[in-house]
Amino acid sequence: MIHFVIVGILVVASTAGLYRFVFDNPNFSLLPAQASTQAVFIDELFQIHWLVISFFVSLIIVFLLYSVIVFRRKAGDEGDGEHFEGNTQLEIMWILLPLILVLVVAVIGAQTLDKVEMRSTNELEVKVIASQWNWRFEYPEYDLTSDVLVIPLNQPVLLKLTSEDVIHSFWVPEFRVKQDVLPGGEDFIKELRITPTKINDFKIRCAELCGQRHYAMLADVKVVSEFEFDNWIVEQSGECVLSAEECGNRWANQFGCVACHSIDGSKIVGPSWLGLFESEVPLVGGTTVFGDEDYIRRSILEPDFQIHEGFVNLMPSTFGETLTTEQIDQIIAFIISLK
Ligand code: CUA
Repeated sequence: MIHFVIVGILVVASTAGLYRFVFDNPNFSLLPAQASTQAVFIDELFQIHWLVISFFVSLIIVFLLYSVIVFRRKAGDEGDGEHFEGNTQLEIMWILLPLILVLVVAVIGAQTLDKVEMRSTNELEVKVIASQWNWRFEYPEYDLTSDVLVIPLNQPVLLKLTSEDVIHSFWVPEFRVKQDVLPGGEDFIKELRITPTKINDFKIRCAELCGQRHYAMLADVKVVSEFEFDNWIVEQSGECVLSAEECGNRWANQFGCVACHSIDGSKIVGPSWLGLFESEVPLVGGTTVFGDEDYIRRSILEPDFQIHEGFVNLMPSTFGETLTTEQIDQIIAFIISLK
């Protein structure tokens, strides 16, 4: 009996130690960051499992080591061990205990699933379309499509997933939840609910072997503030309700103009926009041109027509197609404002 008491104490100590220093150690987390409401519920379930795992590992290892050490053969002992036939009590116990444990875990698991799939009244619906080997996101409410999943902080999001070819699987480890994405159109749309709780960038990974470039089937998730989300929607949908100058500023950033043209007079790849309007612009070849609205417009549409002195033309001549006339007018208004 004394052996059982000692082993019992050792098992409890080992369980506590394993759980505390391996599974629940704040210094090295076994899980990635926790970035959704759903992740909290899943991690609670993980904690319970880890506690159970700590206990069973301890139970087996402690009993084994204790027996090996304490009941080892004494020097000179050549006899056989004591013979015994079964132990009904022990057998009933090792059938009943695991059975109860598995049932308890099943009930907790079902409760967790219920919490993870909980619906909200204000869900943002996003259609996720998977194909070999990329992800596409459609926002039916805003009538726009994106290759990045942008979602506002603390906003319940309902993903409706479908595949255009084979089975893929949508997985963002920081959100914990994962869902297979099936081909077959309307009849096989799967749903997944996420409420992001951390502003950050994450990666969507495909978690179903789906062909040659399965490993590279990644997409970005950006969790942003509500304000940034609204701005993003406006930018994406090509509508701008601000003043012409402010809209022009937005397009200049979104379409990359300011990557080459500074607005503070510094020289990057192209001439700065600061003070450009109504100035005498020196051209390659020694002549000048008056920097009026017509000059600016023509420079956007036909960048190689008149080259600014000290620069070579590297600007794409496609802005007449990628930008609308209104967007070009607004960019010109922005340049005019930089007197
Ligand atoms: Cu898609 Cu793996």
